[in-house]
This record gives sequence, structure tokens and C-alpha cells, in this order.
Amino acid sequence: MIYIVDFGSQVTHLIARRIKDLGFKSEIILPEDVILKVKAKRPNGIILSGGPASVYQENAPGINKEIFSLNTPVLGICYGLQLMARVLGGKVISGKKEYGPAQIKIKNTKLKITKNLPNSFKVWMSHGDEVVSLPDGFNIIGSTGSVKAGFIANEKKKIYGVQFHPEVDHTEFGDEIIKNFINICTPKASVKQEINIEKIIEKIKDTVENKYVIGAVSGGVDSTVAAVLTAKAIGKQFIPVHVDNGLMREKTQENVGKIFKYIGTRVIIINSKKETLKKLKGIIDPEKKRKIIGNLYIKLFEKEMKKLIKSGKEVEFLMQGTIYSDVIESKGTKNAVTIKSHHNVGGLPKNMKLKLIEPLRYFYKDEVRKIGKELNLPTDFIYQQPFPGPGYAVRIRGEVTKNRLEMQKIADKIVLEELGKAGVLNRVFQSFPVLTGALSTAVKGDGRAFGEVVALRIIESKDIMTSTWARLPYDLLQKMSSRIVNEVPGVSRVVYDITTKPPATMEWE
Ligand code: XMP
Repeated sequence: MIYIVDFGSQVTHLIARRIKDLGFKSEIILPEDVILKVKAKRPNGIILSGGPASVYQENAPGINKEIFSLNTPVLGICYGLQLMARVLGGKVISGKKEYGPAQIKIKNTKLKITKNLPNSFKVWMSHGDEVVSLPDGFNIIGSTGSVKAGFIANEKKKIYGVQFHPEVDHTEFGDEIIKNFINICTPKASVKQEINIEKIIEKIKDTVENKYVIGAVSGGVDSTVAAVLTAKAIGKQFIPVHVDNGLMREKTQENVGKIFKYIGTRVIIINSKKETLKKLKGIIDPEKKRKIIGNLYIKLFEKEMKKLIKSGKEVEFLMQGTIYSDVIESKGTKNAVTIKSHHNVGGLPKNMKLKLIEPLRYFYKDEVRKIGKELNLPTDFIYQQPFPGPGYAVRIRGEVTKNRLEMQKIADKIVLEELGKAGVLNRVFQSFPVLTGALSTAVKGDGRAFGEVVALRIIESKDIMTSTWARLPYDLLQKMSSRIVNEVPGVSRVVYDITTKPPATMEWE
């Protein structure tokens, strides 16, 4: 058992994920509970997560120094490293900011913690502070161009620290580092846990008993897989509902129809296109947009529920396809800061009358796809791109108007078509145009056109938490750019977004 002390990093849960993938157990705990828990349960090791605070800030989460003298191996990550260094007598300052990729050079690859690491590899950074003086007994074992104390160790005490994030997919050899740490913590061999679909289905059955469940289905991977699991668990007690708010990709509704025909369940479709646009009129703030869309969605569901109750069905639950990254990015943990409220989590109104069923709340995208595959869902559904719940509304900076929605739809179609024709659609995780709201000059024909700048965001990612921009052939980018300025009225210019996540999120708002 490894304890992961959560200081509020957006990716703390990925540490748990990596440990789970290696076949070991972990538990995420709060800093204030560490001493009691560690003394009571004697874990094999402790990992201190990253976090948004600075260790020298007032009220920054701290840690009891005693945990470093209990003979339990410790690995500090980012904030965890800085906190550990400070508590043990080192010095942390506001240093060079580093967000995204960096190259680390390892001084000694013969240590237990550096076993199987090459001399130099790419790591993912996300920090503004830096350890500039090490506590006694520590050595630097790896540095990047900007940070000397990139990887530190007190070998005798089995205490280690990394400034980068070994838990994110884009850090090369991150798994090796976590594996090496676990091998230092315990000599036990790993026992890999498989996803147990029957158990998920049983749990839904036990929760629902003889009541009815309304299912929120968007046509995306998550809600589709969640819906199939629910349908398998409770059959006709499950009533899937699709809200067509006009903010989804073309063919979404058609796909929803196909999926439910395939499962053999009837789906209720609610058209809210007009009402959605009306409610979004004049709204510029992205958080407000999310809340409006989320609230309308819940309102429509409640209305549907009342109708069903009137017809004699006891509806008590609402099924949603929320997955773990949605939960985390909407302030799922105590010390995390809110990045944006995903409408299916953070935006739920407090007085909502339905209880939630979220069968995939603790799974990651790739695990959800694996479940979908095991359930024999068509490959097209499983491997489609993740699409944000508030849909095109968050890809149109500023006000969502009928006209701009149409522009977005045409541009989106062009991007998908061209990626498909070039045979690279399956290589990218997400691809979409953003109506940036910025205006620029173009000369179309012989006239001056002052139109909107479209940004293309085409990214590669595995688990949503980190991403890089796709290195697409120039000719393909050119083709998309030409088609968008020519075919989408009101567009003057196309730019390609080459920002990694972190620091930039996938969506622009
Ligand atoms: P960001 O932009 O936060 O996106 O890097 C991470 C993933 O989540 C999707 N996304 C959303 N999904 N409601 C959702 O259901 C939302 O409000 C929302 N915002 C972003 C995004 O498309 C990406 O896959």
C-alpha cells in the first residue's frame, strides 16, 4: 500500500492510476491526516503530490516533519518535493517558470531510483518555484536546463524528489521512476487488477433496485458506455434521453439513434436548439455559458422526469457519463483550484432532485474505451473524439450566435474531412477550430475583408491530462486553412495552436 498525500495537483489521481497499472494499491489522503494514518496503517511508501500553492505562502498546505523519520520511503513530486526540501531545512524560492516539456539529464543511472533510465529524457514540468538549497543528506541526481534540483535523493533515508511529473503520460520513463520507487518500498511482486464489468453492473442493480433511471446520453463515448452498462443492469427501468441543443457535432443525433437501436432501447429526444440559443444571447463569460447550458439541461431532464412520473414510473436517478478527469478538473479534491467547471459536474444546481448514477466516475478515457470494446460496441463509437459537454459553445469565444454557430459547424466539418482524407484522424486525440473572436484583415478578390480569426487546435493525448499539438504535414495544414477561409463566410485568417497542455487547456475556454 502506498499513500498519496494530495496537495491539490490536477494530476494527483494519475499517480494512483500509475500505481494501479503497476498492480499495487494506493490511497489518496489529505496532508492533515498523514501522521495518524501512517502510524496506524504503516504503508510501504508515501508519495507527496504536486499542488497549486507555493510552500512559502501563508496557509500553504504543510506536512508533519515526523513522516521523514519513520523509515518509510518518500517520493515528493513538484510541490511535494519543494515542501519536503523546505521542511527538512532546504530553501525554496520563486524561480524560473516552466510549464510543459523539458529535458532532464540524469547524473547517475546506477541508483535504485534511476534503474533503467537513460542519461537524458523528456519530462513534463508545471511549476513556478524551485529548490535552490538542498537539505542535509540530499544529492542532485538530475537537472534540466533551468532547474538544478530537478531530481534529488537522500539514498540512505530512501527519500526522493522530482520537480517534474512522472505520473503524466508525456513524461518519458515516468512509469519507470514510479516502478523503481515502488520496488524500493516493497519487495512484493505486482498483481494487476483487471476492470470488472460484472461488478459495475451489479453495483448499478443494487443501487437502483426497482426504481427508474433517466439516462443523459450525448452520443459521446462516455455516456454511451455508461448507458450500455446501465441498460445491461436494469433493462427497461432505464430511460435514455438525448437533449439536442444544437451545440453538438453534425450527425450526433443520428448516431444516438443508431446506438440505442443497437442496444435495443428506445431513446427520448428533446429538441432545445431555439431555447439554448435564446438563453446564450449576449453571454460572453465562458463559465456563465457552461452554467446556462448545464442548468437548461437539468431543467429539461426534470421536466421529462415529471412527465414519466405522471405516467406512473418512479424515476429516482439520473445517469451521466461523467469520467474521472471531469471530476478532478471540476475541483474534485480539497486542495485543488478550479480550472473550469465541467457542466456535468460543477454546474449542477444545488436543488437538483434526482440522485446521480455515474458508473464511469472512477475511470479514465482509455479505460472507458476498453470497457466499450469488451461490451462489443461498434469501433466508430468507441474511438470517436471526446467532445465537450457544452459543445460548440466553448469553441466560440464570446457570444454564441446563430451565424457564428454555423461558421463553427462548417469549419469543424472541414477539419474532420481533411484529417480523414489524409488518413490521420485516428492519430489525433481531438481536432477542432476555435472562433477566437479576434478580427483581422484579409484581401478577398480585390476587396478588403475584416473577418474573424480561426485557430486550429489539433492535439495528441492519451488521458486528457496532458497533450501536445499534432505535428501535421504542412500541406495538410495549408489545405485546411485555404478551405476554411474560402468556404466559411466571415473568416479572414487561420492560425495553428502550438501550445502544450499544461499550460494551455485543450479548449480555449
Ligand atoms: P480542457 O479544455 O480542460 O479539456 O483541457 C479537457 C477535456 O474535457 C473536455 N471538456 C469538457 N467536457 N464539459 C465536458 O463535459 C465541459 O465543460 C468541458 N470542457 C472541456 C475537452 O474537450 C477535453 O477533452
